[in-house]
Amino acid sequence: MVHVLLSRSAPARDDTYDRFKSVQWESFSAGRRRAGPQDESGGIATSWDQDETEERRWTRREWTKFAIAAGIVGSITSIGATVSGQLLPPPLKFPGELREQIYYTKWPTAAWWNSRQGRPIRVTDFEEWQGATGVWRGLFLDGRWIPGTGYPVLVIRLKYDAPEFRIPAELTPPEGYAFAYDDPDARIRLVALFDRCTHLCCYPGWHVIPVAYRDYRVPSPTYAVYGQDPILCICHGSQYDPLLLTTDVNPKNDVVYLGATHVHGPTQRALPVVAVRSAGGVLVGGMSDPRWYQYC
Ligand code: FES
Repeated sequence: MVHVLLSRSAPARDDTYDRFKSVQWESFSAGRRRAGPQDESGGIATSWDQDETEERRWTRREWTKFAIAAGIVGSITSIGATVSGQLLPPPLKFPGELREQIYYTKWPTAAWWNSRQGRPIRVTDFEEWQGATGVWRGLFLDGRWIPGTGYPVLVIRLKYDAPEFRIPAELTPPEGYAFAYDDPDARIRLVALFDRCTHLCCYPGWHVIPVAYRDYRVPSPTYAVYGQDPILCICHGSQYDPLLLTTDVNPKNDVVYLGATHVHGPTQRALPVVAVRSAGGVLVGGMSDPRWYQYC
C-alpha cells in the first residue's frame, strides 16, 4: 500500500500549490452551487433539464444570460465549468454549433498553454510528456466558444515507444477513431482523458504542481520509470497513470468504459478516455458512449 502522496517539506517552498488548491476548491464549490439539487435519478439537476420542453430558439441575449448565470462569462479560466456542460448536446435547438474538435482552455495557475486558450489543439503541439487542458464538444456561437460548455479534457503526449502502454481489447472506439492518437512516422502518441476526477469530480491536472513537490512514491511507470508526474487531482490526491489504460465500471450506470488506471488516492476507478483522431492536424474527439462520462 502507498501511504505517502507528496513531500510537503521541500526547502524551496512557494505558494503555487496552495493557490492552485484554493482555486480548485473555489471552482469545485461554485460548480456544485450552480448545479443545484440532485434530480430523481441521483444525478445533478441542470439548467438543460428545465429547458428541455422549450420549443422556441434561444436568443443571443438568453445565451448570454445563461452564461452569466453559470458564472462563467468573460472567463474561460473557469476550470469549474458547470456540470451541465458535460451533458451536451443539449436537448433544445440552439443557434450555435457543437464542435468535436478539442480546444485549449486555460488552467487556473500559470501553465504553458494558457496563452493558447480558445485555439484548437493540434496533434503536433506537444513535446514528449507535455500535456494541456482542453474542451471537447464545446458549443460555439459566432465562432466563439461558450465557456463552460462541453467536456473538459486532459490531452497528454506519452513517450511513443513506452512498453508499459497498453489498450485493452475489450472495447472498440467509434469508427475512424482510436483510444490513443498514434503517428508512427513522427513518433507521436497522444491520449485524451475526461478531466473530472472519479472521486468527487474535481479537475485533475497534468504537471501543474511545483517540481519541489514531485515525490509521489507510487510505483506506476509514468513516475517510477520515466520520472513524470502522474495525473494528479489536488483535491484529495487521487492519481491516475496515463500509460496504463484499463477497463472499469461506472458505478452510476454499470457501464464498462476505458480509462487511465487510478494508482493512488481515494478514488477507486479509472479516469475515462476520450477517443480521438486527427483531422487536418487538429485533434478531434469521438463519442464512444456518453454514459462513460456521466458521474458528476
Ligand atoms: S475529487 Fe479528486 S481526489 Fe477527491
